[in-house]
Amino acid sequence: MVNTEQNGDVPIPVIGFDHVAIAVPDLEVAMKFYGEKFGCEISKPFIVGTQNIRMAYVYLGNAKLELMEPMGEGSPISKFLERNPQGGIHHICLKVPDVEAAAEGASQAGLRRLGGDKLAEGHEGQDLFFMHPKDTLGTLIEIE
Ligand code: CO
Repeated sequence: MVNTEQNGDVPIPVIGFDHVAIAVPDLEVAMKFYGEKFGCEISKPFIVGTQNIRMAYVYLGNAKLELMEPMGEGSPISKFLERNPQGGIHHICLKVPDVEAAAEGASQAGLRRLGGDKLAEGHEGQDLFFMHPKDTLGTLIEIE
């Protein structure tokens, strides 16, 4: 449970969990794995052109996995896979009611945002931002 009493006073008031993103070298293999081994419902694959990745969601009821496969060399995911050829956990995503206010809160709290001051746009048009893992105990955290 989110501690709502304390939640109003923090820089990034999280209200829930959204997804864990997993970098994979082969999206079809990964979709099949989660479908056949765990019986999970999987979305159709789709392209996120702005990030040069192909993605699919694994639905887990109140949360999901985001499977990400790089398209070409220009994607941040391809660098990750160079270091982790099998793939692996890339980031977690937490939900806030107001992304702009959370981004402001992050900056004021000294948590650097990746990609500068502008909010990024998700594939469904939603606002989001990432924080520098050096400022977040080594975990890449997305706020959506
Ligand atoms: Co994500």
